[in-house]
Amino acid sequence: MQIFKTRRELQQFALGARRSGKSIALVPTMGFLHEGHTSLMDIARSKADIVIVSIFVNPKQFAPTEDFDRYPRDFEGDRAKCEAHGVDVIFAPEISDMYDGNSSTWVEETILSQPLCGASRPTFYRGVTTVVAKLFLLAQPDYAVFGLKDAQQCFVIQRMVRDLDFPVEIIPAPLVRDADGLALSSRNRYLSDDERRRALSIHQSLLKAKERIIREKSSANAIAEAVASVTAAGGRVDYIEILDCDTMTAPNSETRRVILAAAAFFGTTRLIDNEIFEL
Ligand code: PAF
Repeated sequence: MQIFKTRRELQQFALGARRSGKSIALVPTMGFLHEGHTSLMDIARSKADIVIVSIFVNPKQFAPTEDFDRYPRDFEGDRAKCEAHGVDVIFAPEISDMYDGNSSTWVEETILSQPLCGASRPTFYRGVTTVVAKLFLLAQPDYAVFGLKDAQQCFVIQRMVRDLDFPVEIIPAPLVRDADGLALSSRNRYLSDDERRRALSIHQSLLKAKERIIREKSSANAIAEAVASVTAAGGRVDYIEILDCDTMTAPNSETRRVILAAAAFFGTTRLIDNEIFEL
């Protein structure tokens, strides 16, 4: 396994691999890798000759009030997991290499990025699309694998790829949960045992709401009940909403697939989760 620290090394390697006819799959991450990430690596491994994992805590997607400084980092642990899952290249640049001091270009998707996390974190998605566009140009992937825990991120990136003609296929990968149902996230490590136990209410409430929406063919009461359950468990709900997956607007008679998405704080930790289903 090779480790590249600079954009130049990665791009030269990727262009050379493409010239020699090898296919490339990219798994973009911010590190502190867990089984959700390794499931993405396994999918990437099954798709392409070369698997590249990027590990970069991207400052452009954090607001000044957010957890950039304390975001968990463990390069040696990440390296071992990548090695164990057959990764060929880790790309782990410094911020100063990834962004020149006066970089002033952004890539921004302006519709699907607006609701849900985009409403609560208004600068988040343009930070994500900017870094992912750069990673695509550096790693030259045929495939890029993104987890559906961040389903809105996946939809925004698919739209960016379509709109800007990136020659890459986005592979959305199933959300991975712990045995107790909590969606895996690097941020779970911030939770105390008690917060973690109470945070299970997010997934439980989403499952109950999903059943009720399908049964009643209406979402208002089901969502109100879900908000009440998460609040009763001590969570501060940021949003629980149902949206059409294709438009990220309220479902209508044309809608086929919906996302029932939630974000809630337990203590200071903001967790997200979702259920995607057909109406
Ligand atoms: O999902 C993440 O970990 C990040 O948003 C990503 C896609 C690696 C961009 O920094």
